[in-house]
Amino acid sequence: MKLSISRTQPTLQPEEIVALQPKAAECLEALYRKTGKGNDFLGWLDLSSLFDTKLLNDIKHSAQTLSKLADVVVVVGIGGSYLGAKAVIEALSHSFSLIAPSNHPQVLFVGQNISEEYIAELLEILKGRSVACVAISKSGTTTEPAIALRFIKKYIEQVHGKDEVKKRIVAITDASHGALKKMAEEEGYETFVIPDDVGGRFSVMTPVGLLPIAVAGFDIERMVKGVYDMELSTGMEVAPSDNSVLAYAIARNLLYQKGKKIELLANFNPKLRSFAEWWKQLYGESEGKDSKGIFPASVDYTTDLHSMGQYIQNGERILFETVISVTESKKMAAVPMANDDSDGLNYLAGRRLEEINKMAELGTILAHADGGVPNIHIEMPKLDEYNLGQLICFFEKACGVSGYLLGVNPFDQPGVEAYKRNMFALLGKPGFEKDGEELRKRL
Ligand code: PA5
Repeated sequence: MKLSISRTQPTLQPEEIVALQPKAAECLEALYRKTGKGNDFLGWLDLSSLFDTKLLNDIKHSAQTLSKLADVVVVVGIGGSYLGAKAVIEALSHSFSLIAPSNHPQVLFVGQNISEEYIAELLEILKGRSVACVAISKSGTTTEPAIALRFIKKYIEQVHGKDEVKKRIVAITDASHGALKKMAEEEGYETFVIPDDVGGRFSVMTPVGLLPIAVAGFDIERMVKGVYDMELSTGMEVAPSDNSVLAYAIARNLLYQKGKKIELLANFNPKLRSFAEWWKQLYGESEGKDSKGIFPASVDYTTDLHSMGQYIQNGERILFETVISVTESKKMAAVPMANDDSDGLNYLAGRRLEEINKMAELGTILAHADGGVPNIHIEMPKLDEYNLGQLICFFEKACGVSGYLLGVNPFDQPGVEAYKRNMFALLGKPGFEKDGEELRKRL
């Protein structure tokens, strides 16, 4: 993976970047030495769990068991409890279905909304299929996944029989607390632990992400290797001028100070769409606090150049863009020759779409730079487990540094509770009745 921030010029000057390097290096050191804010949530930086062979083998074994039992595995979870796995599975899967490599079940993600139609339609498509479930919730009390789990559990009981439930549901949750932990114990589900010191949005390299990814048939050890190599090349001992994690965190911080309040994560490969969703949570939830923070947004190119392109080129100049570019396409397609050339495309005949897409990318970056949209560029050699592991590690570390540069605690999310309190009060959840009366007066 290669990072380039040279196209943040002229908005950023090289000397400003150099000037911020010592402070950024201190932020990185604070992460490693656990001296900064939120230092009890830095377990994701400790790679020893990634090399816990027993844990990796248990995950692979559980994935194989589920694969043999079921042709659909429903992953129930919300926020950090599903976005990482979905990002990786979608990036590695066929574009037109979420069907993983042969002999592996289809992986569906549910429990991220309370839409009645969504659940009803899920039950429709599960009909007649052999179903298993990976239920993921660190707190074990989150409403959306808890509701979805009730439906899936009931489906499994009714279709496969009560005795099958404990074979077909695997729980990933806190080591000792929460409703899911209690249910897993009572019902005898196989269980994996989300470490206490790893927050949801940093949990993709724990069983939270690794089990669904393994179920879908992908190589979690290659991901681990990618994380490890990225970790080595961006550690504290690496010179700040050579450390891509620091370069990204510095560029975003300086751009923010200059009024670039929105970062667009752009891809030229639709397989990265869900990766952007994972990234948005990572940065949005980590930095959006104390009335500060870059708003993380995402676009799929060239698709969105035909909808958002106008704003990006000429709208309010509050944007900068981080483009993830994938060098090598795993499959080939060249433009066919047409006898009549009525669409005027014969000048492209025989040329690979990879080349055409690359020219679209370069043209877009230059146009946006001319339009006052600074560009950060990330080049991935190809979309595979190893490179996704690298990218995940890169963004997580840069997020920690970036949060510290901004002066916030990147590892808490106090604001997420506000809607929950109101919803519970309006629904009459025991303990919240009084607030409900107050809220109803405001409606
Ligand atoms: O990053 C976070 O902490 C959140 O997005 C949580 O992952 C999300 O709210 C789900 O929480 P839980 O896993 O407790 O159900």
